[in-house]
Amino acid sequence: MIHCEGLVKIFKTKDIEVVALQGLNLTVEDGEMMAIIGNSGSGKSTLLNILGGLDHPSAGTVTVGEWNLLKVNDRELVEYKRNTVGFIWQNNARNLLPYLTALENVEMPMMLNGKVDRAYAKQLLEWVGLKDRMHNRLQQLSGGEQQRVAIAIGLSNRPKLLLADEPTGSVDTRTSDQIMDIFRRINREIGLTIVIVTHDLTLASKVDRVVAIRDGLTSTEFVKRNPGLDSTEDGFNRQGGLQEVHEAFVVVDRVGRLQVPKEYLEALGIGGRASMEFDGGKIVITPPKPIKEEES
Ligand SMILES: Nc1ncnc2c1ncn2[C@@H]1O[C@H](COP(=O)(O)OP(=O)(O)OP(=O)(O)O)[C@@H](O)[C@H]1O
Ligand SMILES: [Mg+2]
Repeated sequence: MIHCEGLVKIFKTKDIEVVALQGLNLTVEDGEMMAIIGNSGSGKSTLLNILGGLDHPSAGTVTVGEWNLLKVNDRELVEYKRNTVGFIWQNNARNLLPYLTALENVEMPMMLNGKVDRAYAKQLLEWVGLKDRMHNRLQQLSGGEQQRVAIAIGLSNRPKLLLADEPTGSVDTRTSDQIMDIFRRINREIGLTIVIVTHDLTLASKVDRVVAIRDGLTSTEFVKRNPGLDSTEDGFNRQGGLQEVHEAFVVVDRVGRLQVPKEYLEALGIGGRASMEFDGGKIVITPPKPIKEEES
């Protein structure tokens, strides 16, 4: 369903560049329900926004189904967002219109896509446990109820992939469990692929797999698999613990430039110039060899 390789996102503002994703690799299977965890600022929302077609990647490979998100044009992107992907935003205000009812909120994206299917909208609200609240305005619903409306909205276009950014971020544990159960049911019943971004490590046991992004700047990816659900793959702990698989990447851009970590350069006293050798299997960078004085 999802394949990212060497995915890079650089935000350029007036005088600084922020490398939010630096060579991220990620594969998500069709029908999988997985979570992405990581500290604040590690690039989780950036990744989700790229997968949702809301933001354009800077470099690398990113495909969702048959869509190559690095190559799509604007028209294709509209189609992608309309038919393939459902999104639940980190900031609830972005999902919801407070002066409309729950049902109207779910019908709104259907309307924008040209066809309102009221029966399906009702069914979605029933799925998320809001059958009796569907005619209430959003501002009359609790935070957890609003979040469940947001899930129904995310499903309104019958997506193949559901992306949820911190869907349990501002609700209590009970509501959080309820939301995760809803995701699991939808995942099982209609085979929807679900990617959930969260700070919350305790959600790890409720998904098939957890991938941790750690500091997009150091471009290190940790992968954890839920051992109960996926114990056949090599390299993962079968004892019930979570073993980390650790890969470090450095991004090489189109013209062959790469950034060597400052600590490495300092450790070797490299500044300005360096020697580089290719030995057939690897590239070795060393401090510059002293320039010999021209013999006269
Ligand atoms: N539009 C933007 N312009 C400039 N920098 C940005 C932009 N969006 C994100 N960033 C930067 O990219 C990095 C990753 O941000 P991102 O929002 O992906 O983090 P996150 O993992 O979702 O964090 P949180 O858990 O706090 O939501 C941060 O350093 C952030 O400041
Ligand atoms: Mg975020």
